[in-house]
Amino acid sequence: IILIVFEKSGCSGKGRNMNIKKWGALVAAGALAASLALFGCSSGDQGTTTSSTSGNDAGYTLVNDGKLTVAASLDFPPFENLNGDKPEGFAVDLMTLLAEEMGLECEYLPSTKFDTIVPLIQTGGKADVGVSSFTITDKRLQQVDFTDPYCNVNQSITVRSDSGITDVAQLEGTKIGAQSGTTGYEWAAENIKDAEVTGYDEMTAVFAALDSGQIDAVSVDLPVANYYVRSYSDCQVIKEIPTGEQYAVAVSKENPELTKALNKALQAVHDNGKYDELAAKWLQ
Ligand code: ARG
Repeated sequence: IILIVFEKSGCSGKGRNMNIKKWGALVAAGALAASLALFGCSSGDQGTTTSSTSGNDAGYTLVNDGKLTVAASLDFPPFENLNGDKPEGFAVDLMTLLAEEMGLECEYLPSTKFDTIVPLIQTGGKADVGVSSFTITDKRLQQVDFTDPYCNVNQSITVRSDSGITDVAQLEGTKIGAQSGTTGYEWAAENIKDAEVTGYDEMTAVFAALDSGQIDAVSVDLPVANYYVRSYSDCQVIKEIPTGEQYAVAVSKENPELTKALNKALQAVHDNGKYDELAAKWLQ
């Protein structure tokens, strides 16, 4: 029997134990057990390594020598977003730190359509990692490996404030918008009776559709809903849905040493306090 930690919302930023709001005792096995590593204490040895496409001491391969090449859908503030043409956000800073720990430079590809990133990592050759607030799911685990989780979130429902909708039950038969290929899309399709769920390529387009009345509600990860709601002042989050999702970095199954090196780097930035600094900066 294994205890799984559920946080009500937000990331495990403010100290891995301090802001745990709720413990849920669940029986689980296999992959989920790995998630406990985030809260455990293993040694955070910070040696640097050099790497190349032809193999190296660390044993992993890279698309470009000396670089950690990242594929991301840059439409998901506060995790990964574009500021002008510059990637920014919690995950962008985190990947820069992890790359640093590994003696690499972090390089983002131009924003990539969300539901093409896992196949891109699976195929290989373009990016070393997919970092797009990927929730670890059984389906994705068949296609790629995931690092230890770096963030815990729940789903949410957002509506226009003047819609009179205050409860999920009122969404029956309405139009819901979500980003294609996301857990938010799946949640809406599976849980809202007779809903017409539309998938959009970009998160920005989903909120624009809500604002203009094309859809009645948005289903998306709560921290992202909270962020967008600030720029659409007449929209509001009416519901947090405790899905207990965990974000992790997607890596090719053919590059297991890269997953290991990233986990080691992640542990190091937990141990040296830099993870907490980033969480304080981006996830308040
Ligand atoms: N966490 C959700 C999922 O894994 C949504 C992620 C969307 N990410 C993005 N960068 N647009 O499906």
